[in-house]
Amino acid sequence: MRYENVIFDLDGVLVSTDEYHYQAWKKIADEEGIYFDRAINNRLRGVSRMASLEIILERAEKNYTQAEKEELAQRKNRYYQELLGNLTIEDTLKGVRETLAGLRKNAVHIAVGSSSKNTMRILTQVGLENAFDAIADGTEITHSKPDPEVFLLAAQKLGAKPENCLVVEDAPAGVQAGVNAGMQVAGIGEAAKVSQAAYALQEIRDLLNIAV
Ligand code: BG6
Ligand code: MG
Repeated sequence: MRYENVIFDLDGVLVSTDEYHYQAWKKIADEEGIYFDRAINNRLRGVSRMASLEIILERAEKNYTQAEKEELAQRKNRYYQELLGNLTIEDTLKGVRETLAGLRKNAVHIAVGSSSKNTMRILTQVGLENAFDAIADGTEITHSKPDPEVFLLAAQKLGAKPENCLVVEDAPAGVQAGVNAGMQVAGIGEAAKVSQAAYALQEIRDLLNIAV
């Protein structure tokens, strides 16, 4: 099947920012005396900053006010952005550049659909800020994945119908968002095991056999 449009998740699909998210949340959890581990961290993939905080606070012993939650989310983002300072072109995940080039060569339109409010900064830092026909990110939406909003916005910016879009995701919440948008989903990594994903990618380059 050929797809006219491919919409990529950012964190964990195009760029390896996952470890930085983990380290920043871990620092917050340690400072607050809240238990946090990598299994809990896996539940944060694809989920917005505030929704991620709510998951972390499930293990908290005290109740946090809205103002305290906002301060924690801001502090986490400061730690995360400090870590993002280390991000270079080398942090683009394996096969991404040649896959994007291969899709473009075959006139497939490509977009980013990410819950992250740091999307533009990350794309700029790895030199992919001009690589896409459209970018929809966390600064433009009110509902994060598994809500379909960000993918529908990306499709709208591409001028594409949802049924003509293939979503590429590494997170279960993202696979669900793609399905909720009426799109087909190619899962990679953890998301390759999610049954709702129409395709399981061993590596991102496999997209060239699916979408072209
Ligand atoms: C997603 C990540 O892409 O963006 C989540 O998978 C993260 O882990 C979310 O919480 C929001 O990111 P940010 O950069 O706006 O805090
Ligand atoms: Mg992701």
